[in-house]
Amino acid sequence: MRTGVERPRRTTLEEFLSNGDPEIAKVYLAIAEGATRLAGELPFQTGMAGGTNSSGDAQATLDVFSNDLFADLLLETGVVGEVASEEMETSRRASGDRDHALSVAMDPLDGSSNITTNSPLGSIFGIWRGRLPQSGRALVSAMFVTYGPQLTLCFNFGRSVCQFVEMRAGPQSGEFVLAAEGIHLPEEPEVYGIGGDRVKWTPRVEEFVRSLEARGLRLRYGGTFIGDYNQVLRRGGIFAYPELQGKPNGKLRVLYESAPVSFLTELAGGSSTTGKGSVLDIHPKALAETAPCYIGSRRLVQEIEERFSTH
Ligand code: AHG
Ligand code: MN
Ligand code: MN
Repeated sequence: MRTGVERPRRTTLEEFLSNGDPEIAKVYLAIAEGATRLAGELPFQTGMAGGTNSSGDAQATLDVFSNDLFADLLLETGVVGEVASEEMETSRRASGDRDHALSVAMDPLDGSSNITTNSPLGSIFGIWRGRLPQSGRALVSAMFVTYGPQLTLCFNFGRSVCQFVEMRAGPQSGEFVLAAEGIHLPEEPEVYGIGGDRVKWTPRVEEFVRSLEARGLRLRYGGTFIGDYNQVLRRGGIFAYPELQGKPNGKLRVLYESAPVSFLTELAGGSSTTGKGSVLDIHPKALAETAPCYIGSRRLVQEIEERFSTH
């Protein structure tokens, strides 16, 4: 019988983070713990919770479960003073005066409509110092989790965008180990994913997308922001949840979804825009404020701003 191939030992998440900010390390390790526990729950919680979140989206039981799981783990670190979430009207705060502690804004489960189809899911976290809301420019760190096929964590360590993957076999089984660091969007854009109903795209969005198709970019759209975005990060291109007719501010929440991802994208050599300027320059007034977002290869983002400035 073929013995398992000998694989070299890889750096673990704990080892890697021990060289950085100890408070950020505690936050990242809390998220890693929550991601593993959430992944274990996926087969068992596929129903709806019966309520709606602050954006009016119907809540899946996994939305509520993941919200409570990550919020508890983050507040238990002792270094997080406030947790804001897409699934809560107001933030949960640690007791005592924690105004200078870290604050985390999260989308605890991204892509809930994909739970029953076993399609890729995500979790998104933005980490600031001080009270929320704040602009993406003030982000200290950000992380997103991908569930399926692999369980991965993608985050910045200083200015380097790294990816860790949960091992499922061998001596390091159950540990998160280093899969990539210094991730950069490839020079040549390859894929695109655009949210919302095509019939509701504004003419200038439609024109832009047609030009991408004419250039041979490949359509990659699965309905989970993180699942679709992760392909742009690794293959180059653009993800957008654009302005829609009757919905000029799109759907994705700045604090919980597009700002943390735009922050990582800039560190990976890409950029973002609302059509007018960087997603990171938005100063959200409300925790669940939305904005149209176009995130990915720098030159495509630039092209959108040029097109939109004359249409
Ligand atoms: P969430 O499940 O956290 O509400 O996010 C769903 C979002 C995002 O993941 C995805 O890009 C978008 O909804 C898909 O929207 P459409 O179904 O309108 O395309
Ligand atoms: Mn989401
Ligand atoms: Mn969500």
